[in-house]
Amino acid sequence: MSLKDTLLSLADNPKMREFVVQNKLTRGVSRRFVAGEVLDDAIQATRMMNKKSIQTALDLLGENVSSEAEARASTQDYINAIQLIHKTGIDANISIKLTALGLDISRELCLEQLFQILEQAKQANIFVCIDMEGSAYTAQTIEIALAAKERFEQVGTVVQSYLYRTQSDLEKLIEQKVRVRLVKGAYKEPENVAFQQKSSVDQNYLTLMKMLLARGNFPAIATHDEVIIDAACAYVRDHGISKTSFEFQMLYGIRRDLQEKLVQQGYNVRVYVPYGSQWYPYLMRRMAERPANLIFVVSNMWR
Ligand code: FDA
Repeated sequence: MSLKDTLLSLADNPKMREFVVQNKLTRGVSRRFVAGEVLDDAIQATRMMNKKSIQTALDLLGENVSSEAEARASTQDYINAIQLIHKTGIDANISIKLTALGLDISRELCLEQLFQILEQAKQANIFVCIDMEGSAYTAQTIEIALAAKERFEQVGTVVQSYLYRTQSDLEKLIEQKVRVRLVKGAYKEPENVAFQQKSSVDQNYLTLMKMLLARGNFPAIATHDEVIIDAACAYVRDHGISKTSFEFQMLYGIRRDLQEKLVQQGYNVRVYVPYGSQWYPYLMRRMAERPANLIFVVSNMWR
């Protein structure tokens, strides 16, 4: 098993979660990638970024609730975030996960929660992006995003270039003018559903990116891959597409230099700002993407 696979497996390991979350040092180090444990931390992080003309997407960490009460509590948390964004006037929108809204319990419960959030978001004029989780949820997430778009304008979702099915999903989303964030994909997926080679994932990303830049509704090109970012800049320049018709998105704490450079070049940049107490699986996925981050964490544990 590769280091990447090991780290992705540990993301779902409750004993490891317990160890890392209880450890004061790893908690401190998680701040490199997570704004903090409460909503105010994400608001503060946004204020700092707005000063640099960078917008944010607030992500309350947490996934896979197993009771209706937890799903309702997540809904309330997301609504609180929308209300505080509106009240403070910061330039932010939100990202949500359907498994945090009870998708594992029932589609009905999840839709009820989602529509409550979207109702609040509509009143506050704030966009809501439905994150994409593991492949067991892809079909349902696409279907729910399309259903939500029939009732609400300000909703979008995410597609992952490592999945074979994504090009066909993307056609449907583009046709219904759903706003899409394009990512490579962060979960451990088997070879019957996903490309295993980085070169194939990247190649598919470029194909999907061009579809979105040419025909998408204000798409988000979410990556830290400079080769891909350069290709996006060249594509819009060569095809006379406005720099303001899409946005680049990156994760909190990753490639801040590149975020600022793109803003200076006149592109929209949005940073995904995770916050909340359930940061462990998120942190492990960031380690898996770049095992050098593990050295950063381990070396800080001994400081
Ligand atoms: P890649 O992994 O090839 O990295 C390219 C370069 O970027 C690396 O060489 C390194 O320099 C830098 N880099 C990448 N990751 C890094 C890290 N963790 N630490 C330091 N440097 C790093 N996934 C998903 O499945 N569902 C989702 O909903 C989302 N949502 C989402 C939102 C946003 C705004 C972003 C940017 C990403 C996601 N993702 C996601 C995660 C995504 O699928 C992917 O795992 C990461 O973006 C890493 O892939 P890159 O595209 O950056 O390329």
